Formats: sequence, C-alpha cells, structure tokens
Amino acid sequence: MSKTQKSTTLNRSDMSVDGEIEIVALTHGFGKGPTRSVVISDCNLRLAPGKLSVMIGPSGCGKSTLAKLIAGYFPPDEGRVSIDGRHVTGPGKDRLMVFQESALFPWMVTEENAIFGLRASGSTDKADQHRAGDLLERVGLAHFVKKFPGALSGGMQRRLEMVRALVNDPALFILDEPFRGLDAMTRTLMQEHFAQMFEQGRRTALFITTDIDEALLLADQIIIMSHSPMRVTKIIPVDVPRPRTMADLFTNEHINEIKSEVMKVLYAEVIKAFKGSSRVEGSAATSLQQRVGSTQ
Ligand SMILES: Nc1ncnc2c1ncn2[C@@H]1O[C@H](COP(=O)(O)OP(=O)(O)OP(=O)(O)O)[C@@H](O)[C@H]1O
Ligand SMILES: [Mg+2]
Repeated sequence: MSKTQKSTTLNRSDMSVDGEIEIVALTHGFGKGPTRSVVISDCNLRLAPGKLSVMIGPSGCGKSTLAKLIAGYFPPDEGRVSIDGRHVTGPGKDRLMVFQESALFPWMVTEENAIFGLRASGSTDKADQHRAGDLLERVGLAHFVKKFPGALSGGMQRRLEMVRALVNDPALFILDEPFRGLDAMTRTLMQEHFAQMFEQGRRTALFITTDIDEALLLADQIIIMSHSPMRVTKIIPVDVPRPRTMADLFTNEHINEIKSEVMKVLYAEVIKAFKGSSRVEGSAATSLQQRVGSTQ
C-alpha cells in the first residue's frame, strides 16, 4: 500500500487490536538535495503479537527514527507500517512510547503525571484513575504520589513513565532505551520490573537497547540492525524461559551461545559503521574485530 492510499488511523477505540506490527519496504531519510541522508532503506520486519522483541544496533543507525515511524510521529518516505493490517498514519493511543529521555512534566506531581494520558484522551473515569493508583503501588511509588519529578530518583522516574504508559492499556509498547543512564543496580531492578509487567500484560513490545546483556535478559527475539542505512541484519530467537537473572548470563550455556552469535553479528555491523566514519581511525575497528574473533 502506498502512503497516498486511504487507510484508518488507529486510536483508542481500537483497543481490541492484537498488536501485530508489520514494516514493509520502509525507507526514510532526512534533508533535501545534496545534504539528504537516507537513514533507513528497504527495511522489512514483522513483530508477532504478545512477543517481546529487543532491537539492537550500532549507535546512530536509525533505531529511534524507526520507533518514531512505528509510533506514527511522521510518515515514512516510502513503504509502510501496519498494525493488525491497518496502515499507521498518525499517533494513536494503542501505541505507547517510552523514550530514552524523561518525558515527565516537572510541574505535575506523580499521580497527575500518571493519569496525564487518560485526561488528555478525555477520560474522567474513576476506574481508570483507580487503576493508575494500583499500578503506582505495584511499582513502589504509593508513598510518592504527591511528589514532583524533581524529588524522585532516576529509577523512580522511569517507573512512573512505565505506569503512565501502562495505564492507557496500549496494545503495543515501544520503548526506546528506557533505562539508558541509570546506574547498574537500578537498571537491573528496572529490567526485572519490566519483565514482570510484560509477563502480566503480554502486550506486543519493541524494546530498543544498545546493551547486549539487557537484550538477553528480556527478549523473546533479538533483532540486530545494520549500520546506516538501516535494515534488519538478523533475528535471533532467545528460547529461554523468563524470569532470567544476571547469573544466568554467566552460567547458562545456551544463553552464552546466543550471546556469542549476537556479538558476532552486531560487532560486524559496528565495525562497518566505524569504517564508514572518516573521523574514526582504523585502530578502533581493529580492536573490535579482535573481540569478534574472540567470540567465534
Ligand atoms: N530530525 C532529524 N533531522 C535530521 N537528522 C536526523 C533527525 N533524526 C535523526 N537524524 C539522523 O538520523 C540518524 C539516525 O538517528 P537515530 O536517532 O534514529 O539513531 P539511533 O540508532 O537511535 O542512535 P542511538 O543508538 O545513538 O540512540 C542519525 O545520523 C541522526 O543524526
Ligand atoms: Mg536512539
């Protein structure tokens, strides 16, 4: 379907959707004329409903751009994104984004931030607000409902952002490096929280990260993206039951086999990205190449 063809924009009334994402021949670039750069080229991908897919790729390859295209923030130059067979033509309440940067409103207290999406969509339903209260309690924020974001730790802010997304009961979750910048301990706790919340709701989730261990802890499948222009290089299933722990990453032989494969494919892409950059000397790429060699 071309982008000029008519199709339905998904919205809150489409809550019965299963959450299957299909990306077909997607191409997108920025700029015009000689300054134009193509970031995504002929990208094809299908995400099955109820699965947690983790996308990983070299920095700057176009992951956030793809996330925004799925969210419907802007249309692709070519190709299409469909959700349950319907062409995405704009943002919708069925898709919830959590970004690498905090998007909380500093002038709202926790409980107001949590129900912002509900209010914005016109809900004054007490049951919805009750649900927000329940979720805040479940993530350990019950005693912080009257606090402003500035009085919350980084980990608490991320938990609040998760609640704000979950409370809308989206069919799809798109998380763009939601735990970037958190200290190691908080990050591990957040990963556990997220895995638990995912198991309870089983919404289709696309989780973007640059951290291989995070991908191995969470994913049903790891989608490795190429360097720019970006497309899918390889999809590697992680057929290990959740919950998984950091200890499993050291002791579970099968996880380690998957890790070696992910590293091999990903580092090959990172090396291409380094070599494609005129400002990076060959030594960095050589050092990465040695690491790839050591995983084979
Ligand atoms: N609005 C924009 N205008 C112009 N160029 C952009 C815009 N958004 C992204 N880009 C460019 O597109 C490329 C991909 O950016 P993007 O943020 O999607 O990468 P990424 O894979 O998410 O990177 P990271 O892992 O560092 O978050 C980069 O070269 C970036 O400079
Ligand atoms: Mg990004």
